Amino acid sequence: MRIFLDTANIDQIKQAAKLGIISGVTTNPTLLSKENTADYESVVKTICSIVSGSVSAEVLAEDAEGMIKEGRIKASWAPNVAVKIPATAAGIEATSTLSKENIKVNMTLCFSLNQALLGALAGATYVSAFVGRLDDAGHDGMQLIKDIVEVFAHYQLPTQVIAASIRHPLHCVAAAKAGAHIATVPYSVLMQMINHPLTDVGISRFLADWRRVSSPEKGK
Ligand code: E4P
Repeated sequence: MRIFLDTANIDQIKQAAKLGIISGVTTNPTLLSKENTADYESVVKTICSIVSGSVSAEVLAEDAEGMIKEGRIKASWAPNVAVKIPATAAGIEATSTLSKENIKVNMTLCFSLNQALLGALAGATYVSAFVGRLDDAGHDGMQLIKDIVEVFAHYQLPTQVIAASIRHPLHCVAAAKAGAHIATVPYSVLMQMINHPLTDVGISRFLADWRRVSSPEKGK
């Protein structure tokens, strides 16, 4: 499973990129608003200058014509932009048109297998299923990931499944076990994936033991 970073925060993206394990970035209007900017173009262009993998930029239009127009513009910002389009009838129409123009689409706000299937049939490169928001509504978000992965594999659909709306490291474990191609994670969750108290304790003990033999005076 590959990891995308789910943020529009440039410092976080720079920090995560240094680790060398980030395959892409996903943004949305809420994430932009957290950075207090409405300049979507400059944020996405900056992200694309840091990350060579897929960078998702979401359309704001609600009708198919508007989504197609906006999708073409956003896709022109950089070669690695994927246009994020919501799973509505207009979104599916726009995805069908844009995918035929070889524009990569990330079908977002998928909350059902049917939405994901239709996104794949429309030619989306990615479908993003929102695990955390389903869990919040009392549903089993990860079951949706399992169902989409199973159906896409059964019909050999090339669309990649993104486990989105990830809230904690256990979501990442479950998404990987469910066969998600990608998990898009907030920076805080990425850090939680790395950190383990026993690793910290282990390092302290190794260093303390080493100090005892390398400079016996300090170890006393
Ligand atoms: C996915 O691409 C979305 O940006 C994101 O995962 C939404 O997560 P949220 O439910 O925490 O807002």
